[in-house]
Amino acid sequence: MAHQSELIATDIEAYLQAHQHKSLLRFITCGSVDDGKSSLIGRLLYESKMIFEDQLAALEADSRKVGTRGGELDFALLVDGLAAEREQGITIDVAYRFFSTDKRKFIVADTPGHEQYTRNMVTGASTADLAVILIDARKGVLTQTRRHSFLVSLLGIRRVVLAVNKMDLVGYSHEIFTTILQEYRDFAGQIGLEDITAIPMSAVYGDNIVDPGTNMSWYRGPTLMHHLETVEVDEELSTKPFRLPVQWVNRPNHEFRGFAGRIASGTVHRGDRIRVLPSGRESRIAGIVTANGNLDSAMAGQSVTLTLDTEIDISRGDVIAAADVPPQVADQFEATIVWMHDEPMLQGRSYLMKIGTRMVSATVAPVKHKINVNTLEQTAAERLELNDIGVCELELDRPIPFEPYATDHTLGGFILIDRLSNNTMGAGLLHFALRRSHNVHWQALDVNKQVRSQLKAQKACVLWLTGLSGAGKSTIANLIEKRLLSRGRHTYLLDGDNVRHGLNKDLGFTAQDRVENIRRVAEVAKLMVDAGLIVLVSFISPFRAERRMARELLEPGEFFEVFVDTPLAVAEERDVKGLYKKARSGELKNFTGIDSPYEPPENCEIHIDTLKLSSEQAADRIVEQLAAAGLLSSKI
Ligand code: ADX
Repeated sequence: MAHQSELIATDIEAYLQAHQHKSLLRFITCGSVDDGKSSLIGRLLYESKMIFEDQLAALEADSRKVGTRGGELDFALLVDGLAAEREQGITIDVAYRFFSTDKRKFIVADTPGHEQYTRNMVTGASTADLAVILIDARKGVLTQTRRHSFLVSLLGIRRVVLAVNKMDLVGYSHEIFTTILQEYRDFAGQIGLEDITAIPMSAVYGDNIVDPGTNMSWYRGPTLMHHLETVEVDEELSTKPFRLPVQWVNRPNHEFRGFAGRIASGTVHRGDRIRVLPSGRESRIAGIVTANGNLDSAMAGQSVTLTLDTEIDISRGDVIAAADVPPQVADQFEATIVWMHDEPMLQGRSYLMKIGTRMVSATVAPVKHKINVNTLEQTAAERLELNDIGVCELELDRPIPFEPYATDHTLGGFILIDRLSNNTMGAGLLHFALRRSHNVHWQALDVNKQVRSQLKAQKACVLWLTGLSGAGKSTIANLIEKRLLSRGRHTYLLDGDNVRHGLNKDLGFTAQDRVENIRRVAEVAKLMVDAGLIVLVSFISPFRAERRMARELLEPGEFFEVFVDTPLAVAEERDVKGLYKKARSGELKNFTGIDSPYEPPENCEIHIDTLKLSSEQAADRIVEQLAAAGLLSSKI
């Protein structure tokens, strides 16, 4: 490409200066190499007399030096997004290319069409104003076209260019073009895509890319470039209600306390009345501080530090909003989730949820259905696999300020992160708060955990025994309970086999059933701790994520994880219940250690090696450790 030259930071700055008056269009291209995507992008860049082209990621360091004001190109926005994803250990394959013409600046997110398309598209599309969906005129509307269009619609892109490419290979046939367009419109209508501009083109010969060419005189519409240059960009974010998710609290000295972040939407002026969510406190803007001095007003896209008239408590993740039109606050939602990881999303599992600048804990309450993106059919599901899209309910551990994704991508879009590996597992869009979250309130009770445990002269806690089937958990738990009883302690033993006869008799041994099994028993254990009891839990509890969830339900110091460590071979050799034999013969499926995993604890409070200790010794050891932790003293 003759006009391409790589620039260094100062050139970028000069470039931005020269182009800052132009509007910016962000778009995404969807299609595969076969559809002629590379040649299309190549031609756009070439014809636009592009000044530079690069992957923005490579410019990260340099572009940070570029100041960003409202309406200007904001490299950081894109790059921050990428860096955040990368920190989460997700591989994304999106090339951001930058070019400009006399009329406009453009950022193209080029996402490869291969099997990881969902992940890539979600990354590339979340900031796009428009999508160019490529079609090979010889092939017409394919499954892939439908998938891409569905994602485009889901991610809130309203404008689509249907680029019917390779017209040269179908004799520039008007009829073929019309047939494809009709078929596409039929599908697009069903998924709410209405703003469609179809352009017949040949990327190889240049027809209708920048110039109309002479081969398709039957076509009267715009060329691709003309359309991209003139299409209206969505309603300006700066005209929406003001919202700033607080990224950090800036307190260089006692006099100054500022709240820094990027304005997600709207405009803010000095003196404006604001409300802080979720607390609901109100104040006024005293100052708008930036690296380049103080401002009277600032708008969407700008990074600022706000100071307030009055001292109010604000922390990272809170949202500062226009006082009269604040976002809603809730802790239960319906959401669409796009799953991006090989490990499936399990109903009942709890994940970290990053939304705006806030991190909360979210449990997947029922998965309502999965959507087949080819047929748009909804099917029942209990889990989501890689690239699946489903509608779920989510329960958070605390209320958050939010907007439906359709209104605000920053306060309505989120990612789900695995608690242990820190990997990004999925991305999601909030639809609405579930009404029940407004109607169910905590009852403030006068007789509480403290009072109940005091009466029993003990400190309530959970002893959580985990290990393979046949490891000796129940035997040891039983001995511990007897010892505690003889010391006058009030206890209860929750045993897997027993609880599975009652409360959990509807559950089997698939991964999602085990997740639900542990979720329920953890909640029961928590209630029993609230009742003031020392609770022994003896469940295989094979997954780290759920043991961690159980731990987090309780207060610090209340949860003791005991690993009853017996090698598989030894447990299998004993085979007290004859279950290993059945599992080996294939009679029993999903048996822990055989065809279902056991994830040993990494940081347990107590580790019992059953090869070295008898059950009696193990019970003694555990009771000693509880005593050492001060839990058995009656002076509480
Ligand atoms: S957990 O994995 O969900 O925590 P839990 O402790 O409730 O398991 O139940 C385990 C008990 O169920 C075992 O001790 C065994 O007696 C019985 N069982 C029956 N089928 C299985 C299976 N497929 N895997 C493990 N245990 C099984």
